[in-house]
Amino acid sequence: MANALYFLCPLLIMMMLFINATASKSIEEAEQFQSLSNSTMANRLSENDELKHEHAEDDPEAIASMVATSIRNSTERRKLGYFSCTTGNPIDDCWRCDRHWVRNRKRLADCSIGFGRNAIGGRDGRYYVVTDSGNDDPVNPRPGTLRHAVIQDAPLWIVFKHDMVITLKQELMMNSFKTIDARGVNVQIAYGACITIQFVTNIIIHGLHIHDCKPTGNAMVRNSPSHYGWRTMADGDGISIFGSSHIWIDHNSLSNCADGLIDAIMGSTAITISNNYFTHHNEVILLGHSDSYIRDKVMQVTIAFNHFGEGLIQRMPRCRHGYFHVVNNDYTHWEMYAIGGSADPTINSQGNRYLAPVNPFAKEVTKRVEPWEGSWKHWNWRSEGDLMLNGAYFTASGRAAPRSYARASSLAAKSSSMVGTITSNAGALSCHIGFQC
Ligand SMILES: *[C@@H]1O[C@H](CO)[C@@H](O)[C@H](O)[C@H]1NC(C)=O
Ligand SMILES: *[C@@H]1O[C@H](CO)[C@@H](O)[C@H](O)[C@H]1NC(C)=O
Repeated sequence: MANALYFLCPLLIMMMLFINATASKSIEEAEQFQSLSNSTMANRLSENDELKHEHAEDDPEAIASMVATSIRNSTERRKLGYFSCTTGNPIDDCWRCDRHWVRNRKRLADCSIGFGRNAIGGRDGRYYVVTDSGNDDPVNPRPGTLRHAVIQDAPLWIVFKHDMVITLKQELMMNSFKTIDARGVNVQIAYGACITIQFVTNIIIHGLHIHDCKPTGNAMVRNSPSHYGWRTMADGDGISIFGSSHIWIDHNSLSNCADGLIDAIMGSTAITISNNYFTHHNEVILLGHSDSYIRDKVMQVTIAFNHFGEGLIQRMPRCRHGYFHVVNNDYTHWEMYAIGGSADPTINSQGNRYLAPVNPFAKEVTKRVEPWEGSWKHWNWRSEGDLMLNGAYFTASGRAAPRSYARASSLAAKSSSMVGTITSNAGALSCHIGFQC
């Protein structure tokens, strides 16, 4: 059972669970976690009264402020006309000016911002070229398939030989230190199982089209060269992040899955979700599985430069417990609400553009899943420099940002006028060799 995966588990309890029950998955595992958290974990937590995660920041406001600075830096450079290709989007400006991006693919790993900024993916490993879009064998994956690439123990930067549609029979269980980089080709993960990031670290997912993900499960699935186990039913998420950290999800197009497009739960943290294009879906992003799982207080997520587009209904995102920095996103369609939450999450909304729907009863950006105002009055939900269109409004609560960050915030706020430009290339890019992406 020597498995690198286990050594990377942040919590002993998670490791024990995983070893003990190769037979568990999302919801069932979640239930087990809850009962564990009622007994062992809860007791331990009440003893030292402190929640810590080795990958969570002690001062999330400082990271939010750093994001504001990098946005300001990029917009300033644009104004000064330093590079003709600068867009004001600091992630894109970090690499998209380079027409030799094929030669320099791994430079992408240094371009993230926010809580997932230290995700290096497979930067320090070899390239792996996926050549085979079919032949998905969940237990004995064939060399040349995406599944064979992602389960390896060594770091890998995974690229694709040509355009392909990959229909997975079971969840794609990723091992740590992997980048999936679909620049230059059109790669769709569709019509089957999709991506699971469970008990691992350092994952970068860039440039995929992920859609029509289906529930799968009740099957054996391999997650490393030396280990496979039984998976119960998976809900059909586009990307499911479970007990994992240092994750960066950038420039993907996601739509129409059976469950969430992106879910991050069970003590996941250090995550950046940027430049994605979300469409045609009900429950878009879930961050935190249950109100009772207080370990998710360590959850820290940056949501930046995404386009939440046509056919979306709710949860962009829906948050619990942690700290969520929602900055410079373009919300052009929701049917119920944009940002929801329960269990006292901190929501720091800066420089977004919120376009409310026509429905007079759906103008509110925010939704508290908690009927009694007395209990959410102190939740720290704030909006700074957001652009409210068509009657959109954000119901703030709790205390304002600490004074020391006010300056950086006001600068970030200005750029809401640039959200259209900054997010105009959200989703998977169309890149050609020898040209800027
Ligand atoms: C955990 O505790 C809560 C409150 O004490 C209780 O309502 C819930 O049923 C418990 N959950 C489990 C799985 O034991
Ligand atoms: C912003 O630009 C300044 C001056 O060039 C630089 O020192 C600083 O590190 C940059 N900060 C970020 C977060 O990009």
